[in-house]
Amino acid sequence: MSKSFFRTKNIDRILAEGADESHGSGLSRVLTVRDLTFFGIAAILGAGSFSSLGGAVFSGGPGVIILFIITGIACAFTAFCYSDFASRIPVAGSAYTYAYASFGELFAWIIGWALIMEYSIGNIYVAYSWSDYFTSFMDKMNCHIPAYLSTSYMEAKHGVTSGSTNIDILSAWNHAPIVAGIKVIFDLPAIIINLLITYLVYRGIKESRNFSNLMVILKLGVVLLIILVGGYLVLHNGLTLNWLPANEAGVKSFMPNGFSGVMAAVAGVFFAYIGFDAVSVLAEESQNPQRDLPRGMIYSLVICTIIYILLTLVLTGAVNYKNFEGVGDPLAFIFEKENLNVGWMQLLVSICAVVAMTSVLLVFQMGQPRIWMSMSRDGLLPPVFQKIHPKYKTPSFSTIITGLVVGLPIFFTDKTFVLDFTSIATLFAFVLVCGGVLLLPRKEKVKGGFHMPFISSRIIFPLLIAVAIVLLQSTTSTYFQSIFNLQVVGTELTYNISAIVFWTLCILLSIGAIIKNWSLIPLMGLVTCLYLLTGMTAINWAWFGSWLLIGLVVYLLYGYKKSKLNI
Ligand code: ALA
Repeated sequence: MSKSFFRTKNIDRILAEGADESHGSGLSRVLTVRDLTFFGIAAILGAGSFSSLGGAVFSGGPGVIILFIITGIACAFTAFCYSDFASRIPVAGSAYTYAYASFGELFAWIIGWALIMEYSIGNIYVAYSWSDYFTSFMDKMNCHIPAYLSTSYMEAKHGVTSGSTNIDILSAWNHAPIVAGIKVIFDLPAIIINLLITYLVYRGIKESRNFSNLMVILKLGVVLLIILVGGYLVLHNGLTLNWLPANEAGVKSFMPNGFSGVMAAVAGVFFAYIGFDAVSVLAEESQNPQRDLPRGMIYSLVICTIIYILLTLVLTGAVNYKNFEGVGDPLAFIFEKENLNVGWMQLLVSICAVVAMTSVLLVFQMGQPRIWMSMSRDGLLPPVFQKIHPKYKTPSFSTIITGLVVGLPIFFTDKTFVLDFTSIATLFAFVLVCGGVLLLPRKEKVKGGFHMPFISSRIIFPLLIAVAIVLLQSTTSTYFQSIFNLQVVGTELTYNISAIVFWTLCILLSIGAIIKNWSLIPLMGLVTCLYLLTGMTAINWAWFGSWLLIGLVVYLLYGYKKSKLNI
C-alpha cells in the first residue's frame, strides 16, 4: 500500500475491474469504424460550428482558418495518444482512467476534476447556443421570446458596460422587469433544455447506433447545404473581397487583427473540436478497438477540420468579419435579409442546429455521471455517486448533480466565460494525456494491439523547435519582440508570459528528447496543445487555477484518505 500522491493504479487491476460485471462487461462489440467516425462527428459538430464560430471569426477574421488547421493537428496527435491508451487499457474509460495508470492518483484526480469543465461546463455553452437558435427559430414562427428571457444576465450586463450595439443585449437590459431592485434577466430556453436532457438521461435514454448515425447524416447534410448555397452566393454576388477585409488602420489583410487576433479565438476554435475524445469511451463496444478507435477519431477530425475551413470561408465571404460581434447563430445569420437573404435556409439551419446541439448535450450529459461513477468506484468521490437507479438502471444521483452543475451556472455566467473555462481545462487534460503516453513504458503494449508508430524525436524534435524559433524571429519579428518585451497591457502580459513559458518548455523538452529519445507523436501532441494554451488570457488562468486549487483541497480532504489504493 502506497501513501504517495503519485501512487498508480495497476493496468491489470483496471482491466480486471473492467471485466467485472458492475463495470460494464458484456457490452456487445458491434461498432465498426464507420460507426465510430459517425459517433465522433456526433460529439464534435455542435455549438462550436453553429455558434462559437461567429465569435472566432469576429476576433481573427478569415485567418482563423489557420487556427483551425493548427488545432486540428494538435487534436490528431492527441487522438493518437488516446488510441494508444485505449489499446493498452481497452475498457470504457477516459483520460481519467488513463492518467491513473501513468501519472498516478493526484493527476488522475486533477484530470477528472478538469473533465467536469469539458463535460458539464461545456454543456452550459451548448445550452446557451441551443437557446440562441431556438429563439431565432421561434421568431421565424412569429413567436417572440423577450430578450430578457433568452439572454444571460452577465452577457447583458457585460454587453451594456462595454458599449455593445447588439440589439438583443440592449433590449434585454432595457426592458427587463425589476424585482427587489434586481433586473430579471436569464436564459429560459437554456434552463428548459437542460431540465429536459437531465430528465431523459435520468430515465435512461440510450443513444442507439442508428439514432446517432441519423443525427450525423442530418447535421452533415445541412452543413453541406450551407457550404454549397453560401459558397455559391459568395462567388455569384462577388463577395470574395471580404476574404481580405480592412482592419482599423485601413490595411487589407487575411488576418485583419494580426496573428494575436487569430490566437485570441483559440477557446472558440478548440471548443469546436472537443468531443473526439468521447470516441475512446466506446472501447468495449467496438469490433476491433485497437484498429478502429484511432481510425474513427482521425477520420472524424479530418472531416470536421475540412468542414470548419469551408464554413469559415463561407461565413467570412458572406459577411464582413466585423459584423459577427455578439452573433450567437452565425450560420443562420449569414442568410438573413441584410446578408445573403435566403429565408428558407435560415429556417432550415435553425431547426438543424437545435437537433445537432441536442445530440451534443445528450452525449456529454451522459458522459459526466459515468466519469464520476469511475471516480467514486476508486474511492475518490463518495459512494453515492455510483448509486444506480433500481428501475431505470442509470447513475441517478450523479445524473441529478450533473443537471445542477449545468443548470445553476446558467443564472450567473455568460457564454464567453464558460467557453474559455471549458477550453482551457480540456486542453490541460489533453496535455496530461500526451505527457502520460510519453511516461508509459513501451514494454506494456498489448501484443497485436494498436501500436503508435514510433518515430524517434531525438533529432527531429530539437530541429523542429530550432527551425520554428528562427522562422518566428525572421518572419514575425514584432511577435517575437512582443514575447520578450513584457509590456503590461491588460491581459497581454500573460500572453507574453505564456509564450516565454512555452518556448522555455520547448527547449527543455528538446533536451529531454535528446536524452530520452521519446516518441515523436505524443511529444508533438504535448507541444501543440501547450501552444494552444498560450492563447489563454490571465483571467482564464486565474479562474482555472482557482478551480484546480479547490479540486486539490477536495482531494486532500476526501479522496486521498478514502482511495481504494489505501486498501
Ligand atoms: N465540439 C462540441 C460542440 O461544438 C462540444 O458542440
